[in-house]
This record gives sequence, C-alpha cells and structure tokens, in this order.
Amino acid sequence: MGFYHVKHGHRIGGDAERIKAGIGRFAEKENRRRPGKQALTLTGIRLKEPAMQATSESAPPGAPRGQWGSRIGFILAASGSAVGLGNIWRFPYLTGENGGAAFVVVYLCCVVLLGLPLLFNELALGRRSGQDVIGAFRATRPGTAFVVTGWLCLACCFFVLSYYSVIASWTVGYTVASLLHVKLVFEHFAANPWFVLPLFAFFMALTVLIVEGGVERGIERWSKILMPVLILLCGVVILRSVTLPGAAAGIKYYLHPDFSKITGDVVMKAMGQAFFSLSVGWGLMITYGSYMAKRQDIVSSGAWVAGVDTLVAIMGGFMVFPAVFAFGLTPDAGTALTFKTLPAVFERMPAGMVVGAAFFFLLGIAALTSTISMLEVPVAWLVDEKKWPRRRAAWVVGTLAFVAGIPSALSVGGTAWLSQLSFAGKTGFLDIIDQIFGTTIILLICLLSSIYVGWIWGPQPAVEEIAASSAWFTRPLLGKLTPATLWKFFIRYLCPGIVFAMLLNMLGIKLF
Ligand code: PHE
Repeated sequence: MGFYHVKHGHRIGGDAERIKAGIGRFAEKENRRRPGKQALTLTGIRLKEPAMQATSESAPPGAPRGQWGSRIGFILAASGSAVGLGNIWRFPYLTGENGGAAFVVVYLCCVVLLGLPLLFNELALGRRSGQDVIGAFRATRPGTAFVVTGWLCLACCFFVLSYYSVIASWTVGYTVASLLHVKLVFEHFAANPWFVLPLFAFFMALTVLIVEGGVERGIERWSKILMPVLILLCGVVILRSVTLPGAAAGIKYYLHPDFSKITGDVVMKAMGQAFFSLSVGWGLMITYGSYMAKRQDIVSSGAWVAGVDTLVAIMGGFMVFPAVFAFGLTPDAGTALTFKTLPAVFERMPAGMVVGAAFFFLLGIAALTSTISMLEVPVAWLVDEKKWPRRRAAWVVGTLAFVAGIPSALSVGGTAWLSQLSFAGKTGFLDIIDQIFGTTIILLICLLSSIYVGWIWGPQPAVEEIAASSAWFTRPLLGKLTPATLWKFFIRYLCPGIVFAMLLNMLGIKLF
C-alpha cells in the first residue's frame, strides 16, 4: 500500500550521456509547462515524503539521480507496493485451494529462501544501474538477450494490472453496499456487468489520474495513517472470526500442516504467490532500488518489506479460515473466497456494516496503491525511452489495460463462455490470466534475473553493491562462510535450480 515516490516525473537515467541528453532543459521546460505544480526534479523523480525529498530538487543540471531521502521512506514505498490484494484476497484463496497449513509452511520457506535473495538481487541491480527495468539490463551488461527479462516485466505489470483492477473495483462495490446497508450476494454482484464495468472503469481512471498527475502531497501522510488502521481493522476482523462458533476447525486447518498435501504443484503455487506478494519478479524492485542511496541498507530494508508483507498475509488467513469453517463454506472456493466470507463475518459483528465499509475501503486503498505502482512501470518506460508525455502514456496504458481487463471483468459469471473457459486446470478468464501472468511469467522472470545476476553480470558487482551499505555482508559468519557467499549460492544455484524445476513441473515434466 502506498506509492510514496514520485509518479509524475520523467525518469531519466543518471549516467553522463543521458544527463548530457538534456535533463536540465527537459525539467525546466516541464516546470514551465505546469506552473504551480510541484517542481520536477532534474532526475524527473518527484519524491513526496518530506524526508525523502530528492537531494537534487534544486541541483544544477548534471546532478545525480534522485533518491529516497530516508530508509523509512523506501521501506514504506516498497511495502506499500507489496501489501495489497495479494495478501488479503490471493493468499487466503490459494491457501484454501492448496492444502491449508502445508501451503503456508511452503510459502514461508519460499519467502525466506527465494523471495528475499531475489529481492536483494533486484534492489542491487536497480541501485547499481540507476535505471528502469529495461535500462538496468542494458546498462549492466549491454547487448545480451537478457533484456527480454525487462520486456517480460512490462508485460506482467500490464496484464496483472488489467485483472487486479477488476478485483480491486469489487472492493468499491462492497464499500458502497456496506454504507448503504445493502447485502451483496457475490455471485450476482460479480456477474452483473452493469455494476462491475463502471466500477472497473472508475478504479482504472483513479489509478491513471494519480499516475498522471503525481501523487498529492498528502498521500504519504495518509498512507502512514491508513496502513496501521488497515492492520488494526484486520485485528478486529480476526478477533471476530476466531471467536465464531465452529472457528476452531478453521484455525486447525490453517495451523496444522498435513505434509502429505505438498506436491510439486503446491510448491509452485506457493512460490508464485511469494513472488506476487513481495512484488518480486516485476521489475518494480529494480525501479525502487534505482532510487536508493548508497548508504541505505539493502538487506535490512528488504527484510522489513518482506516482514510487513508476510505479517499482513498471515493475518489475511486468520481473518478468512475460521469464518469459512464457522459458516460451513469450503476453503477451496477460489477467487471469491474472501469476498464471500468476510461480509458474513461483518454481519455478525456489532456495527458490522461500518467495520465492513471501513475494511473494504482500506482494502481498496491498499489495492489502489499497488495498481499505481503497476501502471507506473510501463508508463515510466514509455516516458523514459519513447519520450512520451506522461499524461498520454498514463491514459493510453490505462485505457489499454481497461480494454484488456474487460474479459476478466466478464468472466466471473458475467458471460458464460468467458466464465467457463478452461486452461491448465483453471476455469474462467480471470483465473487463467492470473495463472499465466501472476504465477508462470513471474517464475520465468525470477529464473532469468537470477541467471542474469548469478552468471551473466556475475554476482560480484551485486555483492559489492549490497556490501556498500551493509559491510557485514562480506564478513565471515562461520569459518570462511560470509552472508555474501551464502547469497551467491542462493542466487547462482538454489533460486534458478528450484524455479527451473517448478517451470518443468508446470510443463508436465515432474521431477518430484
Ligand atoms: N504485491 C502486490 C499484492 O500483493 C501486487 C503487486 C505486484 C503490486 C507487483 C505491484 C507490483 O497485492
């Protein structure tokens, strides 16, 4: 939740050639064109958090690229992107479909063993290159085919934005319904194009407006308030959920792993979800890393982001599963799970309608701040590399994402053939596209980027980059073993090995 860094600027790389290419001229022109708006920094990055004001805000042409001014600024921004529907909607439904507690155990292992090393990987690549997703690959090792990884990042952000916004728009419907004391029946609501399409258009327009116009000064301030409130409300919902009669079965389902349920498929889903939730494998952390100052600790900041994200995901499960069992629903209800169970919890609470409205509103904000960051990746690329005006880029990409999202919006009962479409064990266009982009392509990106950093660029520059802010990274832990050696092993062997095995598994070549 939260999109704390600047959305309005034209991001322009920090190297000498690009600076010569006229950053100063461009910034001046842009500031003249938009009088009264917040001044564009020379790097094109507008950092909104006061503590994060770009060091180059008033610097002369040729100044270094803008940076997060504080560690907390970065942590808030990155966990803002990470915490979203993935934690409260996607994590519980995937847990429900894939064996409950056993899935949670595998998920946690994936976060620690794969998600974190890859997060450091992306941050190091971003900070070292100081460039966007495509530029980072071009700048660190020009002329390799691995630049395709950057393209895949762009595609992923675009397509996930298309269906993620559909689900996000449901939160708007649920908020309004709660306020009006109207009970929504999920199947009827999600299947009605007259509700879903306007809400979807509204949500996408909101995303575009923020990306196009820059985040208002108050966003960080509000997010700092809203994020703790969201966690607090999650706590309230958990309290009600776990005290419902019959909730114990749900808690057991969520906490007692049955390891016989772990299959290659379950591991793959858990891994995909870890990457989805941490916003790893999208090029987002490359971009965020590129705004990090050398003194900012990549390891501890990354660990904070992963910690906050995992905490909210675990809370998501505690909200949903006790209620699922208490109301006799099935945990494998898929995409609709959260939207069916939580309203039932709110109904059985004092002031449930108010709590429900507040909860769905905050969930919508969490989703909005994630959609903003997703839209920003292709928009920043168009602005940077194609020199499009930001406004045009935001509206064109937003409109295309809306069009691409229409089949998803109509596939939850709205249109029979889109709802019944089936592919790779998934039914319904939305679930299929979630599987393709939200899981498979992200795995592919993680595979390619770990091979790139581990073998092509070589892990040493990345180690140097991480050690620049965490000197202990290269100090011995045990004998000659340093955290850096461990990380190199993870990034060269463990991550690509496991992710590759998972991809083969998906293609039907079962290694285990
Ligand atoms: N991590 C976000 C979530 O859990 C999704 C997301 C991925 C947002 C990538 C931005 C970029 O909902």
